[in-house]
Amino acid sequence: DRSLKIAPSILSADFANFGAECEAIEAQGADWVHVDVMDGRFVPNITFGPATCAAIRPHIRGVMDVHLMITPVDPFISAFADAGADVITAHVEAGPHIHRTLQAIRGAGAKAGVALNPGTPAEAVSSLLDMVDLVCVMTVNPGFGGQKFIHSQVDKVRQLRAMIGDRPVHIEIDGGVDPATAPLVAQAGADVLVAGSAVFRGGSVSDPAPYGANIKAI
Ligand code: DX5
Ligand code: ZN
Repeated sequence: DRSLKIAPSILSADFANFGAECEAIEAQGADWVHVDVMDGRFVPNITFGPATCAAIRPHIRGVMDVHLMITPVDPFISAFADAGADVITAHVEAGPHIHRTLQAIRGAGAKAGVALNPGTPAEAVSSLLDMVDLVCVMTVNPGFGGQKFIHSQVDKVRQLRAMIGDRPVHIEIDGGVDPATAPLVAQAGADVLVAGSAVFRGGSVSDPAPYGANIKAI
């Protein structure tokens, strides 16, 4: 399904209230819930791991989209699959054996995603397109929410859409998505838009209506 889907990133949610935040954003129109896992090694920030994913799972009705910004990946795949991740995305830069990693993700029963940092060309995933369900184009350098969208990535999205052809592979955009940048990537062929700060700004679990307005504005 190539219709446009909004995947709010709980990186910008209240970390003390993940369950309620997930329920609130789904009630306000989120299509997927994007979960950013960071290890302080692959990226210069630490968030949380599989236990937190398992804890929030019952609070998400739809797709739990887990973005692993960790290295190594392979020792943790089964833990994230057991936590109930629907999609597990690993970075092509996270190790020398991304092909093995993607095989293991599907082997664990999840959909497989591959992410590319802004400095990595589209060609880095050309040999992987038959074994993924999603390609994530980072439009910021991963590690933090609220960064500025890197415009040079729009052309990469266009290239990937052409490379993917008629394969059933989503193109997800992650970083700096807001009402100004969303149309650029949607037009270039992306169908899943991750947005953290642009969704959560102005709202809270006790006043979630701004989440809905922000999602509609994207
Ligand atoms: C960045 C994360 C993103 C981030 C997006 O490392 O992977 O998912 O939360 O946040 P915004 O939308 O604020 O750029
Ligand atoms: Zn992410």
